[in-house]
Amino acid sequence: MAWKVWVDQDVCIGDAICASLCPDVFEMGDDGKSHPIVEVIEDENLYNCAQEAAEACPVSCIHIEEA
Ligand code: F3S
Repeated sequence: MAWKVWVDQDVCIGDAICASLCPDVFEMGDDGKSHPIVEVIEDENLYNCAQEAAEACPVSCIHIEEA
């Protein structure tokens, strides 16, 4: 299984809970928004933490799709 992860930069408010919960996938950029470090996730543990981050994001701007 593989999943594509992306953040809608127009919606992200820089809450940063994503980077706290899942630093292997998300990092905060100089623009104060979240940027995925990886584009495609192939590891289930990474997928689980990315999913947790997506659910925790207050504006639901993290998108995870089957690749
Ligand atoms: Fe942005 Fe949501 Fe993370 S608002 S910084 S993607 S928790």
